[in-house]
Amino acid sequence: MSEPGVLVLYGSQTGSAQDTAHRIGRQARKRRLPVRVFPLDDYNVASLISESLVVFVCSTAGQGDPPDNMKIFWRFVFRKSLPASSLSRLDCAVLGLGDSSYPKFNFVAKKLHKRLVQLGARMLLPVGLSDDQHDLGSDAVIDPWLASFWQKVSALYPSLAGVIPMREDELLPPTYTFHFLDDVEEKTDDRLRIPTESTLPSQARPFPARLVSNRRVTDASHFQDVRLVEFDITASNIEFAAGDVVVMPPCNSPEDVQQLCQLLRLDPAAMFTLKATDCSVVPATLPQPCTIRHLVERHLDIAAVPRRSFFELLSTFASNETEKQKLLEFSSAGGQDELHSYCNRPRRTALEVLADFPHTTAEIKVHYLLDLFPTIQPRSFSIASSLQVHPHRLQILVAVVRYKTKMYKLRRGLCSTWLASLDPAQGDVFVPLWVKKGSLKFPKPKDTPVVMVGPGTGVAPFRSALQERMSEGKHANVLFFGCRSESKDFYFRSDWEDMMKTGHLTLFTAFSREQEEKVYVQDRVRENAAILWDLIANKHACFYIAGNAKEMPTGVCDALKEVFQQQGGVSSEEASQMLETMERTGQIQHSVTQ
Ligand code: 2AM
Repeated sequence: MSEPGVLVLYGSQTGSAQDTAHRIGRQARKRRLPVRVFPLDDYNVASLISESLVVFVCSTAGQGDPPDNMKIFWRFVFRKSLPASSLSRLDCAVLGLGDSSYPKFNFVAKKLHKRLVQLGARMLLPVGLSDDQHDLGSDAVIDPWLASFWQKVSALYPSLAGVIPMREDELLPPTYTFHFLDDVEEKTDDRLRIPTESTLPSQARPFPARLVSNRRVTDASHFQDVRLVEFDITASNIEFAAGDVVVMPPCNSPEDVQQLCQLLRLDPAAMFTLKATDCSVVPATLPQPCTIRHLVERHLDIAAVPRRSFFELLSTFASNETEKQKLLEFSSAGGQDELHSYCNRPRRTALEVLADFPHTTAEIKVHYLLDLFPTIQPRSFSIASSLQVHPHRLQILVAVVRYKTKMYKLRRGLCSTWLASLDPAQGDVFVPLWVKKGSLKFPKPKDTPVVMVGPGTGVAPFRSALQERMSEGKHANVLFFGCRSESKDFYFRSDWEDMMKTGHLTLFTAFSREQEEKVYVQDRVRENAAILWDLIANKHACFYIAGNAKEMPTGVCDALKEVFQQQGGVSSEEASQMLETMERTGQIQHSVTQ
């Protein structure tokens, strides 16, 4: 039997799988097992054959896709050329994080588990399928799965029998140590560095795009502030097509940065370098040396609702008995309802939690900052422009997220609030970004007609597609756009009018609040049944739906079924089958990005 040790590999889109992977890492360290935790695509997958014990923690993104940070691994592991016994020396386990309200529940974890079996790996236990829809939260599945996993590991490594694990409330050493620099000469600028090589920008090497404009496109009297944000991407090597998505990590507000520094008595200007205390790797996106301000502003997710692991770690710092009891309760399996009411329901931020536990907060050591706070997750936006019409530019449509909970203070979306606060008139502002393929694919050849349904900010990718298609000839383009009012939130009105004048666009609008009864895009779909039937059934048009109103896609698909029944004379079942075929062949496509 090889030396005991665990490798935890994760694929995470929103940070939950990452958090769980690190939790497994901490549990391993408490059992005094050497452990490494990596995003799947940061790990050299060819080395898997020489590992002995690997846990995979994978979430499933919207349409059953693997998360972005495991896409390379995903392609590799499904290569037909891999021999059936490639992983026969490996002991493995797969834990999936999913949401059963999506049709492809935990698809990635299930498929990976099967593939690992095919490749000869010994699975220590059945695939774990946690569910966000579970009444008691995803931990209701994860906790017992992990307990069973550790039992199997103990059986695997008899040498662990004599090892006394650390207590649950015992403090682990930090993953990194901070080494502060007093020498001013050593200080370097921590602005974003412009990449010199001609590589394509990526998460590890984002391109600092200059903000060109940030303009409100809703009327000042409208309830929602929506911005058209434009970036200069000259010399970035970035290319994109309609349907692609731009990704950017947002920053914390200067007020939040200052508050955290005050609470933890940190000097924002202090400079440090990071050293990993075990086999962890210092995050590639963190400059070395770095200021505390840069770390807090760009890396630590202090404005998110903290997870259970945050309370677990906080409880180990606490010496004030009242605070410790509360924190232990929030960390325990039995305290999850209470934690949900305290944190998730009112969307309380990590920073606000720290302010509620002042004694404990005063005891936090700087070395634990990266253990305590997860990294800020990058956010994705559908690109709203095309390079043909706006060369060297990239535009997005951003709804500034604000909402109320029972908390007195207004809740704000981190990325949209940050973007809206940036003012190019105050000097050059650079936003680190990169581009990835989106879920929408527009037809080639271009003369295939397209029908696009995009209420609200959902219309963004369709503006990009229309600009692209317009510049390549005259094709049939039909757009259904919905908003509340013609005068307040009718985005890109003059663009559509120009396209209509030149015969590039047929537009149907649904202004939901301009009459007694609500009118939605799906009502316009029903009203235009004959046109749609001709486009879809006779001219094989591609049909696209994008937007963030939850019930909208179902409403539009139901309307489409009615169109098929009425115009095609088919039964309800046949109409559903037609829709399913369209989904399968990509003739109908959905996007859920903002
Ligand atoms: P409402 O806010 O008046 O209900 C963009 O947000 C537009 O989408 C608004 O006009 C909004 O209408 C509308 N909308 C909200 N829910 C919808 C749904 N289920 N189907 C279609 N449109 C919807």
